[in-house]
Amino acid sequence: MNDGQYWTGRPEVDSRPSEVDLLLPDVDLRLATDRGVFSTDRVDRGTRYLLLEGPPPPTGAVDLLDLGCGYGPIACTLAIRCPDARVWAVDVNERARDLCRTNAEAAGLANVVVAAPDEVPEEIRMASLWSNPPIRIGKAALHDLLERWLDRLAPDGTAHLVVQRHLGADSLARWMDDQGWSTTRRASRKGYRLLDVAARKARREDV
Ligand SMILES: C[S@@+](CC[C@H](N)C(=O)[O-])C[C@H]1O[C@@H](n2cnc3c(N)ncnc32)[C@H](O)[C@@H]1O
Repeated sequence: MNDGQYWTGRPEVDSRPSEVDLLLPDVDLRLATDRGVFSTDRVDRGTRYLLLEGPPPPTGAVDLLDLGCGYGPIACTLAIRCPDARVWAVDVNERARDLCRTNAEAAGLANVVVAAPDEVPEEIRMASLWSNPPIRIGKAALHDLLERWLDRLAPDGTAHLVVQRHLGADSLARWMDDQGWSTTRRASRKGYRLLDVAARKARREDV
């Protein structure tokens, strides 16, 4: 269940720390959560689906991005699966960032870098981007967010997004295709779509 408006910089709801388990074939973590962040009671089903059905992340000393990291289930999983990568865990929500940092440290994952959006150095290009994106911020804000970060993919980089069908996964995919990113539906189950999105060759206004 979501608790309050979790996509603000500083949640107004009082803190009430708790924990959830993240169990995957290759990951067994207990994660700290709190009120005022996304999916405090359990790891979100869409997030779990992304982590189960997404592709193996790239190997080597690459930069990876968890866009909208929340308390860090995606960032921590990527860091376990790619020990040589640097995993950027980005969120506007300060409480979420603190939890993500705590969870990465507790799991001994020194390759997670938790950052506010403006703290990620401009020159860094991501080999892949993973996200359960914040659809509820509204279409215009979501488009701005994706535009900002999809253009930080390396030229052969790919994004992997999980989006609920009833929250507009198909129209979001069409919008990304129209803007020059190439979208492929990797999987679809129980109302969720997993979208693979390739870096665009040129920005629309440059074509
Ligand atoms: C659907 S939640 C997913 C959280 C986490 N990845 C998970 O799977 O549990 C989306 C996250 O995006 C964050 N978010 C909202 N707007 C953002 C923005 N402009 N930049 C970065 N993160 C943002 C929210 O605070 C929230 O934590």
